Amino acid sequence: MSTPILVTGAAGFIGMHVCERLLDQGERVVGIDDFNAYYDPALKEARAERLSAYPAFILARGDIADDVFVRTLAREHGVKRIIHLAAQAGVRYSLDNPFAYQRSNLHGHLSILEAARQNDVDHLVYASSSSVYGDRPLEGAGFREDDPTVSPVSLYAATKRSCELLSQSYATLYGFPMSGLRFFTAYGPWGRPDMAYFSFTEKIMRGEPIEVYGEGKMARDFTYIDDIVDGVMAVLSHPPARHAHEVYNIGDSQPVGLMEMITTLETALGREAQKVMRPMQPGDVTATYADISKLKALTGYQPKISLRQGLENFATWWRAYRA
Ligand SMILES: NC(=O)c1ccc[n+]([C@@H]2O[C@H](COP(=O)([O-])OP(=O)(O)OC[C@H]3O[C@@H](n4cnc5c(N)ncnc54)[C@H](O)[C@@H]3O)[C@@H](O)[C@H]2O)c1
Repeated sequence: MSTPILVTGAAGFIGMHVCERLLDQGERVVGIDDFNAYYDPALKEARAERLSAYPAFILARGDIADDVFVRTLAREHGVKRIIHLAAQAGVRYSLDNPFAYQRSNLHGHLSILEAARQNDVDHLVYASSSSVYGDRPLEGAGFREDDPTVSPVSLYAATKRSCELLSQSYATLYGFPMSGLRFFTAYGPWGRPDMAYFSFTEKIMRGEPIEVYGEGKMARDFTYIDDIVDGVMAVLSHPPARHAHEVYNIGDSQPVGLMEMITTLETALGREAQKVMRPMQPGDVTATYADISKLKALTGYQPKISLRQGLENFATWWRAYRA
């Protein structure tokens, strides 16, 4: 029997779905999360409760910035594969809480690298972000992994790009294979309440107005959670050679304007939103658009769920969760 997979951020949105897929496939999982209050910890507890229904799931509550905790846990369980998803997410929060990003994203990433090095893992897969591409207009072509990533417009983006560079140095120095995943706007059931589609839903259903930033002109490559998980699993089973470090875009590759997303959400919820237009906020980018040819060539990756279907699934989940 293979050793358990260590998943950080297991009580998070992407983390819960990744753990569930692994457990459904018969893997054993050790999940780390600190259940911090960046958004309602009750949602994180509810996600962890779902995972705890699997006998092959072990939950370790703790902070990934505590390198002794992470290293000891990895050693005790003989971990050979790590999926590192824990981070301080969100662009706007980084304007007021910079040190949360330093702790979870920089110090935290380094603890994971050290645990991976000391266990000489077979593969470390970790979350990066589309935000590393900076503020780019929506042009004909999607963002490619070899495009420049030297102009982050938020501290969040800067820490995510820094994680990639830290990983690059560790891969060169120590050899264990590593893959970084640049996720593009993940959404779906059990999602993050700080993200627009989720907070809009809460406001629309309470009859409150929604604030539409960037005067509605922004566009996002919304990627349904099952398609995100498909990408994570595809990469996990394709470790690069020793001393190699690869980064992959994981996105739907079909950017959608914010106003179109709102219209689709209104249809899914059966209610119209009262919209208040606002200018773009510091740290936000105009558009995101994934070129996924690299992952496609390696694994045959193909996202499947349309925004309409994905938001309907989200609305169904949200109604049940709030009931
Ligand atoms: N959701 C997206 O659209 C998106 C897009 C790009 C990148 N990402 C990245 O993907 C990863 C997962 O994102 P998500 O949307 O599931 O976010 P999330 O906030 O739902 O999940 C992150 C989890 O990590 C935990 N965590 C944070 N700091 C920790 C620490 N120091 N120690 C232990 N646990 C800690 C949190 O409690 C949370 O449960 C993150 O690295 C995020 O930056 C997400």
